[in-house]
Amino acid sequence: MAGKIPQSFIDDLLDRIDIVDVISPRVPLKKAGKDYQARCPFHDEKTPSFTVSQQKQFYHCFGCGAHGSAIGFLMEYDHMSFVEAIEELATQAGVEVPREAAPAAPDNRPLYELLEQAAGFYRQQLRRHPEAGHAIEYLQQRGLSGEIAADYGVGYAPPGWHTVLEHFGHDTAAVGRLRSAGLITEQEGKRYDRFRNRIMFPIRDRRGRVIGFGGRVLDDSKPKYLNSPETPVFHKGRELYGFYEAKKALRQLQRLIVVEGYMDVIALAQFGIRYAVATLGTATTPDHLERLYRTAPEVVFCFDGDRAGREAAWKALDTTLPLMRDGREARFLLLPEGEDPDTLVRKEGAAAFEQRVAHATPLSEYLFGHLAAEIDMESLDGRARLAERARPLLDRLPGGVFREMMRKKLSELIGLSVEQLPVSSVKSSDARHRRHRRHSGSPRMTPVRRAVVLLLRDPRLATLSDLPQNWRQLDAPGITLLSDLLDLLQKHPNLNSAQLIEHWRETEYFPHLEKLCGLAMELPVPEEGAAPEFRGALMRLGQQQREHETRTLLQRIEQGTATEEEKRRLKHLLSRNPSQSD
Ligand code: CTP
Ligand code: MN
Repeated sequence: MAGKIPQSFIDDLLDRIDIVDVISPRVPLKKAGKDYQARCPFHDEKTPSFTVSQQKQFYHCFGCGAHGSAIGFLMEYDHMSFVEAIEELATQAGVEVPREAAPAAPDNRPLYELLEQAAGFYRQQLRRHPEAGHAIEYLQQRGLSGEIAADYGVGYAPPGWHTVLEHFGHDTAAVGRLRSAGLITEQEGKRYDRFRNRIMFPIRDRRGRVIGFGGRVLDDSKPKYLNSPETPVFHKGRELYGFYEAKKALRQLQRLIVVEGYMDVIALAQFGIRYAVATLGTATTPDHLERLYRTAPEVVFCFDGDRAGREAAWKALDTTLPLMRDGREARFLLLPEGEDPDTLVRKEGAAAFEQRVAHATPLSEYLFGHLAAEIDMESLDGRARLAERARPLLDRLPGGVFREMMRKKLSELIGLSVEQLPVSSVKSSDARHRRHRRHSGSPRMTPVRRAVVLLLRDPRLATLSDLPQNWRQLDAPGITLLSDLLDLLQKHPNLNSAQLIEHWRETEYFPHLEKLCGLAMELPVPEEGAAPEFRGALMRLGQQQREHETRTLLQRIEQGTATEEEKRRLKHLLSRNPSQSD
């Protein structure tokens, strides 16, 4: 596996290239003041609001809110992955992309081997164990054919507490392996088999290696399913049950169905629908979806028709939105109440079930239908509310034809162009406010955000002398980010905005930072005003910190738990002049 691309290389690369040269062959730019402008490639518009700042090496669209560095532009515009974008820019700059040495991967081979053997052991127990009769009966009663049970490697964990331990755990090393494979558990110093008296479903990774198990009870006892814990080779958020089997059965997959249960996957396969996979008792994750879309362009989410199913479907939609690049399709199939794919396919057969799948609701229809459900679409006010609810969701779609289509659909539904809509919940009619509401992601200007925006707008603020420091102890959202941002800039004062935010690409902060960087381009502050404003924002934060500390100390005194030192500190805080900085 290739190692990471060093951050210092990305800094250098962004120094060598110019975002204007990257964008202009794709979108012709016109010089406007010190920036460049064009009609935005990410939304439909007549007057140019797409702005590229050479100084910041950042683009931002005042109309639709699209924004990013040169890397981000290639990812959005050319649908490249992060690494592809870096490689493209490196080629343009005539340099090689270096890689950090990949850390030596731990050797998991013994674990895979043990899990494979365990799967074999459970299969064998289903045929041979003296108590296996009721397991076979159970499977028959559920309608499983012997053939499909063999295809999916279904087995049986016998009732004893030490069956697996006795079979595999000959010495300390073997017991250690059983433990890290999740096959045994320990409580109060006693070890025993994790899976007892259960039907065993081996879970394979996409290369077909057994990585864990799901075990079902044979009656109504609880828990109904027990899964392997997270282990070095088993990660629920990444793996999908039945994925390997689907890829093995069908060379070219056009469509994948995501269902909820092991038995659903197996029942569908038995009826010849061999392209269903199940999440492992978790919600669908972005990792799952990347994996699915790498294999097939269309994903159909199939959920039970109960409330839990509907909630799960909406959650899946939410996870899918940012991944809906052009060419990908998502549909939603809610089954009749009380049915799951297993019961339904057995009741109505494969053809009828596949009919349902083929007519599953497209993402766009599902999204708007769900939002419109409790809204009076006849009234202007209701339609405005629909727009308000839909916009933040549409904003999460990646730029492209699909997003544009969704925007169009929204304005059709509300019978107005998006811009014409009344802004119902804004009290002030101040034009600037209205404009900022339109970018529904526009965050409220707290002092932290204000400070971050000012820094992004003018990174040299970080080198001002005598900046207040005590705000760093404040426990508030964004403080860590502001603090890290400031530290980085003090070490590397010449980073431009693009280089700066690329340091955070792989963190949860990244989307916020990108947005704030866009905002930094929108909210001009007079150059000479930036320093006092920045200092002012930090001082306000410092004050919040002092107020918070004072409240906490007062509380401790009331409770009688304050130390002498804390009492002195409180006295100091209460006696000081509020403009002092500590
Ligand atoms: N699940 C789980 N733990 C549970 C219950 C469910 O991990 N205690 C997961 C399993 O992956 C299961 C899926 O959620 O396959 C769906 O659960 P459910 O709908 O309750 O079960 P079915 O798959 O319908 O199981 P069965 O038909 O065997 O009753
Ligand atoms: Mn079921």
